[in-house]
Amino acid sequence: MATFPVINMEKLNGEGRAATMEMIKDACENWGFFEVVNHGIAPEFMDTVEKLTKEHYRKCMEQRFKEMVAKKGLEAVQSEINDLDWESTFFLRHLPVSNMSQVPDLEAEYRRVMKEFAAQLEKLAEQLLDLLCENLGLEKGYLKKVFYGSKGPNFGTKVSNYPPCPKPDLIKGLRAHTDAGGIVLLFQDDKVSGLQLLKDGQWVDVPPMRHSIVVNLGDQLEVITNGKYKSVMHRVIAQTDGTRMSLASFYNPASDAVIYPAPALVEKEQTRDLYPKFLFEDYMKHYLGVKFQAKEPRFEAFKNMENTADLGQVATA
Ligand SMILES: [Fe+2]
Repeated sequence: MATFPVINMEKLNGEGRAATMEMIKDACENWGFFEVVNHGIAPEFMDTVEKLTKEHYRKCMEQRFKEMVAKKGLEAVQSEINDLDWESTFFLRHLPVSNMSQVPDLEAEYRRVMKEFAAQLEKLAEQLLDLLCENLGLEKGYLKKVFYGSKGPNFGTKVSNYPPCPKPDLIKGLRAHTDAGGIVLLFQDDKVSGLQLLKDGQWVDVPPMRHSIVVNLGDQLEVITNGKYKSVMHRVIAQTDGTRMSLASFYNPASDAVIYPAPALVEKEQTRDLYPKFLFEDYMKHYLGVKFQAKEPRFEAFKNMENTADLGQVATA
């Protein structure tokens, strides 16, 4: 099997550019995932983010997680658990309006560092979206513009820790799903592994790599590219040893952004098999109830809604 794609972004500035763009294209078409190194976020700064995130977990989250495990009797389960994940999380929203001042238990330094980290990730996400535009033959800035809506993109970070789990075969760290949104940038633990993606019917490990950022594509990019790029199922297997840190930052369309296949892509291919058109917030509302199910019925549901709306227009015309 082909090895997991690792993209050295430094090579985009030199004679390796064409080959690197080709690697990104292949990763988008065949993996839905890739890992970037030399992405411009300083390694020392990433070390600080990691240190503060782990300190925060130990100080403010670990005890609460242990209490939840005890209350639900999760240590002693004998059969597969399908309604929860073995993870401790909280969410930081950066855009369109930050929630950081309302999140409890964040020390001033951690808050300041996460704000700076988010600003750097936002820039990287937009740079990556433009690389995708280039590979797709879309005008520069097209994806950013589609995501913008009236207030700019939704951008936030899910801060997760996956503590050691006594029954990883019965309780998943995070059950299999595709991401609903646009592009996801993940800073994951370089020592404790666990993230896997589904490729050609097999679960493949996403290798932990120091100071890298894992990138994956969400359902919205599948719709906009009309299936040229696909969101890919992934899951987290909790480990029996070690706590895995995961900072997943979601660069998503604005709530009122209208999502539909890019005309430049579908006209060129003259396809009749089109993905649906919808408001991103409607998609998210639907997704929340069916996150851990296959994505195809989600797209079908919105296609059917479109057809019903078309018929309604005809009937009232
Ligand atoms: Fe995910």
